[in-house]
Amino acid sequence: MAKVPVEDLTPQEAEAELQRLAEEIARHDAAYHRKDAPEITDAEYDALKQRNDALEAQFPELIREDSPSRRVGSTPSEAFAQVTHAVPMLSLGNVFSDEDVQDFIASVYRFLGHLPDNSIAFTAEPKIDGLSMSLRYENGVLVSGATRGDGATGENVTANVRTIGEIPNRLPEDAPAVVEVRGEIYMAKSDFAALNAALSEEGKPTYVNPRNTASGSLRQLDPEVTARRKLKFFAYTWGEMSAMPADTQMGMVETFARWGFPVNPLMKRLSSVDDLIDHYREIGVQRGDLDYDIDGVVYKVDRLDLQARLGFRSRSPRWATAHKFPAEQAITRLLNIDIQVGRTGALTPVARLEPITVGGVVVTNATLHNEDYIAGKGSNGEPIREGRDIRIGDYVIVQRAGDVIPQIVDIVPEKRPEDAEPYRFPDHCPVCEAHAVREINEKTGKLDAVRRCTAGFSCRAQAVEHLKHFVSRNAFDIEGLGAKQVDFFFEHEDEALAIRTAPDIFTLERRQAAAGLTRLENFNGWGKTSVANLYQSINERRSIALNRFIFALGIRHVGETTAKLLARSYGSYAAFEQAMKLAASGEGEAWDDLNNIDGIGAVVARAIAEFFAEEKNTAVIARLLEEVSPEDDQQRIDTSSPVAGKTVVFTGSLEKMTRDEAKAKAESLGAKVSGSVSKKTDIVIAGPGAGSKLKKAEELGVQTMDEDEWLALIGG
Ligand code: IVH
Repeated sequence: MAKVPVEDLTPQEAEAELQRLAEEIARHDAAYHRKDAPEITDAEYDALKQRNDALEAQFPELIREDSPSRRVGSTPSEAFAQVTHAVPMLSLGNVFSDEDVQDFIASVYRFLGHLPDNSIAFTAEPKIDGLSMSLRYENGVLVSGATRGDGATGENVTANVRTIGEIPNRLPEDAPAVVEVRGEIYMAKSDFAALNAALSEEGKPTYVNPRNTASGSLRQLDPEVTARRKLKFFAYTWGEMSAMPADTQMGMVETFARWGFPVNPLMKRLSSVDDLIDHYREIGVQRGDLDYDIDGVVYKVDRLDLQARLGFRSRSPRWATAHKFPAEQAITRLLNIDIQVGRTGALTPVARLEPITVGGVVVTNATLHNEDYIAGKGSNGEPIREGRDIRIGDYVIVQRAGDVIPQIVDIVPEKRPEDAEPYRFPDHCPVCEAHAVREINEKTGKLDAVRRCTAGFSCRAQAVEHLKHFVSRNAFDIEGLGAKQVDFFFEHEDEALAIRTAPDIFTLERRQAAAGLTRLENFNGWGKTSVANLYQSINERRSIALNRFIFALGIRHVGETTAKLLARSYGSYAAFEQAMKLAASGEGEAWDDLNNIDGIGAVVARAIAEFFAEEKNTAVIARLLEEVSPEDDQQRIDTSSPVAGKTVVFTGSLEKMTRDEAKAKAESLGAKVSGSVSKKTDIVIAGPGAGSKLKKAEELGVQTMDEDEWLALIGG
């Protein structure tokens, strides 16, 4: 029976259907997890969940306590053991235009201190749109297959990987003792089409795209199911290797091919920007004819010694980037504009769209950025889209690129309804009604593009978003306490159950001990086991890395990278907080030290100082510290490197490496690189032409050395 579109349902019908879905999904969950005997296919199950999500998006007031979208745990992923990757699985930076490619190549030459003379070779190969896989071989035998997960730990899917015919179970005799081959698992477009054809013939729901199908097929509890799905593999990189069989990217991939792994035939080694871009275009032309989805071309520095010198930024290598294909577009109707309030109070307009398929994925929401964007103005007040504004009821051009949130790039002026009115952006917070204002940026004197709710933590939306950030993966990462559970706890009035601020998370178990009817076990979706698991994962985080702790505080402009810098610079939370309280005045030595940390600019420093000047913030942190102990920064106390924890300053010119390279290397050894010399400086590395900084170091009695002495000290 064809489903009535969600938009056409009355609230009564929606309520009845939500109830039916909750019961049906719960039944299938039980069949799947407890009896291991699913009665429906994954695609059918996913379709039920999707329908439920669509109904909840349309009728948020009808979301049930026992909604399947709120259920804790029991997702299939919990069935797989975790694998810690010996070498983290990182992602790639993106570029979109020819100029970006030029910049990327130039940055490689600059970092290495070379003139851009085409002397460095790059490989160029398709970026496969599948899921990344790390295959570990010990003494030539496949011992584990793991998904990427968060990059540090993934899921152990070894049994399923063994069913993939293209992946060798054994390596030749001459392979090193430990080998980790990494690459992409994917489903061929033809196999995907055949699978869907078979499903629809049986009257069953079909899958959305090959990538999701490949992912679902790999993460099956029953390897038999994976075996039937005909997954494929391309090898393109590696993790731990006990010995290196080659010294170039190309050589490594050729080795993988010799060992029996499929490698992509379109990979080439090239040297000029023009050749790389030509190859990108060539692959773009062939894209439609390939039997697998690709979403761009990856460029990598070929020589591995140069890759090692270039190293990594926080999450991606400096020696590689992905040149993405242009985004796909489609036209649909803008049904409404919702305003979401974020952690920092930002009011973000979200477009609700008539569902449309863009590049194989159904899109119902898109970002509208900010009120100027809706009004047809760019960040400097200049007209964009020739000044066309966006109105509810307009037909809009939706664009989707990779995993990026879909955007609305333009409207179709001829199709604008006559009664469409310019959109009036709210000047009050839609959640708490407080004034929402656009601040004036002190530095530029310009009006901030973002309108913000002025209520701070007394705004429900800000408080709850703040908590979601606190528990998120790169912050406290509390398993079983995701966004939905945060909503659940936040809503409850009851003393024994409410979580309003971060410290409440850690007092929950104690407060629950005294609870009567409001015991967590009595609520739908929670049982004895899930509650016990929740307490366990909360308690596991009573000790936490300093950088995660700082990141979790949700200070504006303090992302993961800045949090790491701060952790490394101050070493302990006590030292950090003490310094920040002193810096809060915006002057003095503590303020100067903060500003001198390489990588922390004035805007960030001011945001941190303002955060610690606010008594409400420090009071919450004080309560939090009664429950949680941030560990001292590992990097700093790691004494294995002679420069760990030392503050160093480079001055004058360097001859053996560029300034960027020297800085990256020093940081990778746990040193802190500062831009100016003070009493706190441990070493000044002075090259030819050094002037005032060297003089100051000598005056202060700070140790100085030349580049060679520095290299001898760090052993390289
Ligand atoms: S190289 C250190 N090469 O893209 C980075 N990645 O956005 C090593 N991917 O997680 C990755 N095709 O899953 C590389 N030819 C290719 C690729 C590729 C697809 C995926 C990979 C990675 C993601 C990064």
